[in-house]
Amino acid sequence: MRKIDSVAVLGTGTMGLGIAALAANKGKKVLFLDMASDGDDRNAIAAKSLELMQNIRPPALDDPENVKYIEIGNFDDDLEKIKDYDWICEAIVEDVNIKREFFKKVEPLRADGSIIATNTSGIPLRDIAEGMPERFRKDLAVTHFFNPVNIMKLMELVPCDDTDPEVIDALAEFCSTVLGKGVVHAKDTVNFIGNRIGCFFMLSGLHKSLAAAKKDGLSQEAVDTLMSRPVGLPGTGLFGLIDLIGLDIMDFVGKNLDTNLPTDDIGRAFTKFPAAEQAMLDSGQLGRKTGGGFYKMIKHEDGSKTKQTFGLGKGEWRAFKQIELSEEHSSLETLLFADTPEGRFAWDLMGGTLCYAADLVPQIADDIVNIDNAMKWGFGWRKGPFEMLDTVGPQRVIDHLKQESKDIPAMLMVLMNANADTFYRNEGSEYLGRDGDYAAV
Ligand code: NAI
Repeated sequence: MRKIDSVAVLGTGTMGLGIAALAANKGKKVLFLDMASDGDDRNAIAAKSLELMQNIRPPALDDPENVKYIEIGNFDDDLEKIKDYDWICEAIVEDVNIKREFFKKVEPLRADGSIIATNTSGIPLRDIAEGMPERFRKDLAVTHFFNPVNIMKLMELVPCDDTDPEVIDALAEFCSTVLGKGVVHAKDTVNFIGNRIGCFFMLSGLHKSLAAAKKDGLSQEAVDTLMSRPVGLPGTGLFGLIDLIGLDIMDFVGKNLDTNLPTDDIGRAFTKFPAAEQAMLDSGQLGRKTGGGFYKMIKHEDGSKTKQTFGLGKGEWRAFKQIELSEEHSSLETLLFADTPEGRFAWDLMGGTLCYAADLVPQIADDIVNIDNAMKWGFGWRKGPFEMLDTVGPQRVIDHLKQESKDIPAMLMVLMNANADTFYRNEGSEYLGRDGDYAAV
């Protein structure tokens, strides 16, 4: 088994900062490099990030003293120092050509037996590995952390075709046991697990909520109220979540999906924004980082605040409306099958997302447990998609799909053919495998 006891974090931006702090908090030796600056201080970029690490809120360091484990530097003067590090963790800008050129410089400098990983959120690993030396491809993996690194539990671990299993074992062990992350094993498919399903929810949500607004007058506040507590998702719901992420990032993700989704993937229908969101993107109304997206807070002179909603129909700001839900719309079991505008919308979006997830085994993960964990640890869902299906009753979902003459997703077919009632049994200690047999979680 390979041993990891030190980490070279290459790229000191948002993610590099988080990963370096996480390792330093565990007393691990960290090398922290970024591009060289032109001015007197060649390490200015890494130094600024290290300063931010000590002041950022919520804090990245458990104890300010932990900076002592981190040595800063720059790619031009200090890259050869990576020879003394076990795990070389790249967290530079998301651009396949820049990453590949960078890895060509890194590869000859690292020690035999060291592990090399990229924190890419969406570039297929095979595109990074292609044509690279065999040693590089054997020692390569994706270690996809989520932002903020110290708060989000999820780390998706992805091998390429040539990755040595020892590399995956060592990263899984170190990231779970030492760094305390929830490690999920994903495959080298576009956006891996969390973002594949999470982005389907968000991008299809923009289109489906537009349809519900046109047909039934469902407001954005109603959409967010339904897509939070009743379905077990965080309080930001749909539009609030996109405000947090930023429409520019969603646009980037949509374009990546458009390039890399399988040709028959139903998510292809939603990779482009509806006209209203495209207009928001074009005008720079991106979300919280630009002072408002779908929502904004107005501060008054007396210190009080009021919330406003950007009504998509008229393209105008208006007062935020608080929504009270009826009992029927307050829990997943009843909401999903309610014959009301709210129920039909929830079935369309949340039901659609659950069915999407149920069709992605074995494409994106070998089993349902990795998918459930990814959504709970990366997106803060109270239950994973398969746990939610169990809550509402998989048979009810199958019946509903049949009524609508829709295809039955792969894992629901497995369940049907196995004559099983639920994806988990024995209090969640066993799960339904794709062969139709139950296995221990
Ligand atoms: P960032 O923009 O905060 O930092 C990127 C770093 O790359 C900067 O410090 C910059 O100096 C450096 N850089 C820029 N151009 C470069 C070049 N030509 N050569 C070498 N270094 C260069 O980016 P962030 O957000 O930290 O992302 C890093 C990686 O992590 C990306 O692959 C991103 O997709 C991924 N990621 C980002 C998440 C996020 O929420 N920010 C979440 C999960 C993954």
